[in-house]
Amino acid sequence: MDSVYAIILAAGKGTRMKSDVHKVLHPIGGRSMAEHLIVTLEEIDIAQTYFIIGHGAESVKEHLGNRLHYCLQEEQLGTGHAVLQAERELAHQEGLTLVINGDTPLITSKTIKQMIVEHKQQNAALSLLTTQLSDPKGYGRIVYAVDGTVATIVEEKDATVEQKGIKEVNVGLYCVDNRKLFAALQRVTNDNKQGEYYFTDIISILKADGEKVTTYRTEDADETVSINDRGALAEAEKVLRRRINKMHMLAGVTIQDPEHTYIELDVRIGTDTVILPGTHLKGNTVIGTGATVGPDADLTNATIGNDVKVTRSVIVNSSVDDHSTVGPFAYIRPDSVIGKKVKIGDFVEVKKSTIADGAKVSHLSYIGDAEIGRDVNVGCGAITVNYDGVQKYKTIVQDGAFIGCNVNLIAPVEVGRDAFVAAGSTINQDVPDEALAIARERQINKEGLAKKFKTKRQSQNP
Ligand code: UD1
Ligand code: CA
Repeated sequence: MDSVYAIILAAGKGTRMKSDVHKVLHPIGGRSMAEHLIVTLEEIDIAQTYFIIGHGAESVKEHLGNRLHYCLQEEQLGTGHAVLQAERELAHQEGLTLVINGDTPLITSKTIKQMIVEHKQQNAALSLLTTQLSDPKGYGRIVYAVDGTVATIVEEKDATVEQKGIKEVNVGLYCVDNRKLFAALQRVTNDNKQGEYYFTDIISILKADGEKVTTYRTEDADETVSINDRGALAEAEKVLRRRINKMHMLAGVTIQDPEHTYIELDVRIGTDTVILPGTHLKGNTVIGTGATVGPDADLTNATIGNDVKVTRSVIVNSSVDDHSTVGPFAYIRPDSVIGKKVKIGDFVEVKKSTIADGAKVSHLSYIGDAEIGRDVNVGCGAITVNYDGVQKYKTIVQDGAFIGCNVNLIAPVEVGRDAFVAAGSTINQDVPDEALAIARERQINKEGLAKKFKTKRQSQNP
């Protein structure tokens, strides 16, 4: 079988994005456009991929690393000129080459594979992917000759009024005989409105040589969206969102409102889990079975067990084990490990802490740099005082301890097993196992004094 090579074009500036970030580095569904294409090509047997860079070359290389073979296009003189940058290394190879615009991230390997098969069956020198768009503005239009073969592609700027009415467009994915590709590219000129070397001009060159050029049409216009501006970026995001959510639903996840549920590509979710609207699942988040996440949960690299409930909360780089509940309005910050059957209630913030099985932190607490033991109860408003303005210190609460409401645990400090800290205490010394600690002013009641004050106030403001 012939080798298949790929050339990805990503040297252009992406002017219409109006961005300091290189166009192909903009993320869609949590993955940059460039990475989408790379992952897609990994699903096809490609002998070598050449990534054409130019504008913002350094940032692209930094982002994608050395897994790719880069070719530098110093001046962006057009798509034809861009492909030529791979000539020195590729022109002598036998085989097929896929030329792909770097701003077409949603194309699937299935479509590319079908196109390769078709290309071979047709014995074509060049096949190009086309699609039918109700609004073809901005794309190159496919012009057919009277014999029904493709004659040329006219760019928007070069098109006549009549040609602008053509709905079939060039997607920017080509499959071409490698030797013939580079032979034809030599003859491309920049004689057009934009003064650019158009890759698409090889169509007429190949045809003049008596070669066969065919179009391969896909009905799925969603796959072929080209990202030139932020509007198209949002469009692509929507397409991908639908694709991802559909996949999860087919795998047994309930998504109440797929249009308002934002799940990135690498997220995994178990069966019978329910995802409620406004939820964002990002990075390498993994959710078990039977969980309920949302509404309005925001999880990044979170590991969530089975039957966990997360309501209107933020979880970052942390884990929550089976049968626990989080929220509403909790914030679990990085490096937190929440055990089984734990309750993290409303307005609780947890940072870099371990909370063992069965513990409860039900309301209005800050737990930072702490180890909270099994079945510990942290009362309403109790907090760890972990920072002295310079350094962070650790708080340890052993299994079964009870921390009363509004307690301050001034770290470093340790509360022993089954100890009891009275409400309102400020604890700055360790509490032994099973001891009761009270650290607050003793209460004094002055009989009748409140009534006396009240009478006085009333007499002043009759
Ligand atoms: C191109 C096609 C058009 C097609 C459309 C699909 C040409 C002449 N036109 O137009 O028919 O409908 O894509 O999206 O090919 N690039 C370089 N170096 C350059 C110029 C461009 O690497 O000198 C890269 C860009 O970074 C981009 C890709 O090539 O990833 C396409 O370039 P772009 O300027 O977006 O082409 P379009 O005008 O969209
Ligand atoms: Ca484009």
